[in-house]
Amino acid sequence: MELHGDRVVLRSLAEEHVPVLADLGGDPEVARWWAGIDQPYLLEELAAGLSFTIVADGEIAGMIQYYEELDPEFRHAGMDLFLGTPFQDRGLGTDTVRTMARYLVRERGHHRLIIDPAADNERAIRCYEKVGFRPVGIMREYWLDPDGVQRDGLLLDVLASELA
Ligand SMILES: CC(C)(COP(=O)(O)OP(=O)(O)OC[C@H]1O[C@@H](n2cnc3c(N)ncnc32)[C@H](O)[C@@H]1OP(=O)(O)O)[C@@H](O)C(=O)NCCC(=O)NCCS
Repeated sequence: MELHGDRVVLRSLAEEHVPVLADLGGDPEVARWWAGIDQPYLLEELAAGLSFTIVADGEIAGMIQYYEELDPEFRHAGMDLFLGTPFQDRGLGTDTVRTMARYLVRERGHHRLIIDPAADNERAIRCYEKVGFRPVGIMREYWLDPDGVQRDGLLLDVLASELA
């Protein structure tokens, strides 16, 4: 499957993308926020079928994946992404998140989406806010950082009608 943004194409994760993504994900500037993106992890994600490779100008730039709560009472979806260091800070993250958000609303029928960056990942938070996400609150000691320290996360959500 392919989802088209203004500047990115999101292509279903395929085995031939895995070595490049493992290289990009192993960079310390990515791993400090999302550790463990290696070939075994990516092959597990390939099998799960909910991940897309981010392609920009024909180059593999990163990965985005989504997850869904399908219980009708609590139905929503969330997403996680990374861009390799050379692809950061160029607006590609905003286009990627917006493209995935539109897919989850229009094709998967979700009315509410969530995302949960580290509370001090200011670039990620700014990127998500540009798409329409709003802070819900701090989740204390939410994630274990690569140094083994439990750190806070920020939950953000957006309703379908608020997508920018
Ligand atoms: C987080 C990430 C997906 C964002 O994508 P991106 O393409 O770099 O972000 P964009 O360029 O679309 O937008 C970033 C915004 O944050 C701003 N920004 C950058 N660094 C910032 C900082 N230190 N503090 C505050 N804002 C910052 C930029 O100016 C831009 O806002 P603007 O358009 O209003 O100027 C990407 O940087 C990334 O993958 N980083 C490493 C891994 C990671 O953090 N993943 C997220 C895990 S939840």
